[in-house]
Amino acid sequence: MKKDLLTLSDLEKDDFERLFKRALELKERHKMGITDRPFAGKTLGLIFNKPSTRTRISFETAMVQLGGTPIFISTKDTQIARNEPVKDTARVLSRYMDCLAIRTFSQDLLVEYSKFSDIPIINALTDVYHPCQVLSDLLTVIEYKGGYEGVKVAWVGDGNNVAHSWINASAVLGFELVLACPESYSPDSIIMKKALEKSGSNIKLTRDPVEAVHDADVIYTDVWASMGQDDREFNEIKQVFEPFQVNKALLSYAPKDVIVMHCLPAHRNEEISEEVMEGPRSVVWDQAENKMHMHKAILDLLINKEL
Ligand code: CP
Ligand code: NVA
Repeated sequence: MKKDLLTLSDLEKDDFERLFKRALELKERHKMGITDRPFAGKTLGLIFNKPSTRTRISFETAMVQLGGTPIFISTKDTQIARNEPVKDTARVLSRYMDCLAIRTFSQDLLVEYSKFSDIPIINALTDVYHPCQVLSDLLTVIEYKGGYEGVKVAWVGDGNNVAHSWINASAVLGFELVLACPESYSPDSIIMKKALEKSGSNIKLTRDPVEAVHDADVIYTDVWASMGQDDREFNEIKQVFEPFQVNKALLSYAPKDVIVMHCLPAHRNEEISEEVMEGPRSVVWDQAENKMHMHKAILDLLINKEL
């Protein structure tokens, strides 16, 4: 049976552990200059309905470095543009390829691809979740903090797709997650409720960024308006989100060894100050690099049916 990666709530703790272990192994081998070719003859299709620098290119590079071939499937140049049904596209692509990574708006579209495909479907970001991002971010947390157990992550800003994947991860792994979000920009209440119902979950929502960063090991932020939310009026969100900016003043309430994370792309001096983004606590470039190592592990485990 093929498995997909649509949300982190579908994974067990063991799955996370296997992904971290494999990503760290593959990263080490890459740094040592060892060439692995487990994907020789394999293809990864990429369907992206939203822009991407990191996710797309790190998946493509991951595939190439492991001997496989990524094929970017342009939605405007294929019959997808002329509304060929997903159930048809999914079945046809399943006959050619070994895996599909999809970035789109609706989570339901991914579920439909999953239903009609015989190959693993990877969520490369939807309006609701960004699971691959949080998997690679956890790899960065493990590297900097020696693990995720006992770690406190402070999410500061919009309760968006990346926040939802952090909520899912915390519900499975049990690390402390405190989200400081403006009231009208809180995470989805159903996602929160489901996560809080899991035994051992340690998730809290606050309106106070200072409370969130107190004792935090990790401070994480993301843009005030995600892709597809262009109807958010800038002056309005600026006013709401300004008290949630990750800046030097906010960092003064956090431990000295806190790390600051951002999935990127960042809007400097909006959700994060230039000073913090470029400062000594920021790990954003290691974070971006780890996407490639984690994507190798995701592909490896999914294609080899080890997830
Ligand atoms: N972090 C992330 O997903 O970046 P891209 O939008 O560039 O893929
Ligand atoms: N929340 C952001 C993440 C981008 C990687 C968005 O969806 O636009």
